[in-house]
Amino acid sequence: MKFMILKKSQALPAILFGLLGAFAPLSSHVEAAGAFEKFVDPLPIPPVVDLSQEMNWGDTADLTMTIGQFQTSFHRDLPPSPSWGYNGSSPGPTIIVAKGQKLRVHWQNQLPMAHIFKLPAGLSRMCSMPDVRTVTHLHGAVVEQPGIQDRVHDNDGWPDAWIVPGQEQISEYPNDQDARMLWYHDHAMASTGRNVAAGLVGAYLIRDDFEQFLNLPSGDYEVPLILQAMGFNGDGSRYYTTDISNEFYGNTVAVNGKLWPYMNVEPRKYRFRILNASNARAYAMKLVDLTTHEAGPAIYQIGTDGGFLDNTLTLNDPGNPDSPRLNLAPAERADVIIDFSQFGGKNLLLQNNSLDPGDGEMPLPQIMLFKVGPQVLQPDTSSLPMQLRPIPAIPPETAVTTRRITLQQTQAGNMQMMLLNGKSWSDPITETPILGTTEIWELVNTTTSMHPFHIHLVNFQVLDNRPFDLAQYGNNGQITYAGAAQPPDPNQVGWKDVVQVQPGTVTRIIMTFGPYAGYYVYHCHILEHEDMDMMRPFQIVSPYP
Ligand code: C2O
Ligand code: CU
Ligand code: CU
Repeated sequence: MKFMILKKSQALPAILFGLLGAFAPLSSHVEAAGAFEKFVDPLPIPPVVDLSQEMNWGDTADLTMTIGQFQTSFHRDLPPSPSWGYNGSSPGPTIIVAKGQKLRVHWQNQLPMAHIFKLPAGLSRMCSMPDVRTVTHLHGAVVEQPGIQDRVHDNDGWPDAWIVPGQEQISEYPNDQDARMLWYHDHAMASTGRNVAAGLVGAYLIRDDFEQFLNLPSGDYEVPLILQAMGFNGDGSRYYTTDISNEFYGNTVAVNGKLWPYMNVEPRKYRFRILNASNARAYAMKLVDLTTHEAGPAIYQIGTDGGFLDNTLTLNDPGNPDSPRLNLAPAERADVIIDFSQFGGKNLLLQNNSLDPGDGEMPLPQIMLFKVGPQVLQPDTSSLPMQLRPIPAIPPETAVTTRRITLQQTQAGNMQMMLLNGKSWSDPITETPILGTTEIWELVNTTTSMHPFHIHLVNFQVLDNRPFDLAQYGNNGQITYAGAAQPPDPNQVGWKDVVQVQPGTVTRIIMTFGPYAGYYVYHCHILEHEDMDMMRPFQIVSPYP
């Protein structure tokens, strides 16, 4: 388990950092800036590009997004430091479109020739590629990707089709999907972790009539929360992992680009669009009173990666101690409603207890603060629906093929790698589903940690999770089941494009491949795993000549 040992040693300064609770003792620089306080910066809201009101149906709107470097301050007491982002912002602007409204984005690489972060050890085989390269993927989008050679016209963001400073990627998004939250981020082969950590993320919302009809909190009462683990050195500069075998957990968490921000809210309902844009860190969240630690309001989850749930999930029900937390792995999204109306005058902490002790991750129990004001500006007329959009279950017997994808840790020379079915990104394609057909994929996690597994183009449903004996597997390479199949967890229900596959578990998912034939990608969304070849191409094949 070389992965773990490396992680522990690397995490040591980070743990010290956490125990000291402040940057101060580690650096005269930050010491001079005073104590590093939490909840002193207001939550920033990324700029919004709302195209959903332009009813030029049939036309394709054009949008230019420049990808560049700029200076930003992540906290009141930190000096500005370099960030990457879109149109001068990280997270980039929230793009909002209406369902069916076509959008063409010109992603222009205007980055400098040098990266913010050094190339991590283990990726030296990538030295032949330019250090600064990016390709943008709209995560969760249904787009056509017929070929993989064209760097200019690239809709899905093929990992090898990166562009260098001065070049442009043109992507067309039909947006022919029901209301949901997508997100755009870098996807450059063997540089995604570094580029995303540098700031290349942004939210993208599709709206539809059904959503309108639900009368959810909107306008100022609908707020994106984009969580990113970040790593800060004692001098206030940022770090990224120096060895790709170490997942990048960071030692702080930023929301919308600020560390430990606060948000002033009215005592009423809000809708939060939450995205975990962290490289490797998962969060399990609830709301508690900052001073008394009493339970805060419930988190009502109305949507997930693929849009609305069929029924609202009540998480962190204050009346039920067994009620699950809001659990988000990298790349997962949650659409939630929180009703602050009974909490006027309180300071509510968004608290996290997710920690994988084996991974040497330092805990980050505090994410952000909601300061609930004494009264509303105007009466809250929005709704909290308990029934949402029906989700027809895909019948398992309609699957024409069952494939097994084994998530495994392998020794390659003197390097540890995370692979899928023992294959690298550049190995020939092995999954060729036929357009329009349904398949079951059995995701077999033979490693000792959770992997958030993602497939491009399709949404899937989780059928079940079944534990197997990891020790046995280590001895004989056989899957010996250690219990019965369990139904999906609360964070696995609804339409998903990312699923948490727990160690020693077979998670079965079902999906129909379409509506386009072509080349797509599936991978682990821990970005250091993805960069180290836990990513594979697949091809949807048309049954017609
Ligand atoms: Cu969020 Cu292939 O990516
Ligand atoms: Cu994706
Ligand atoms: Cu992984």
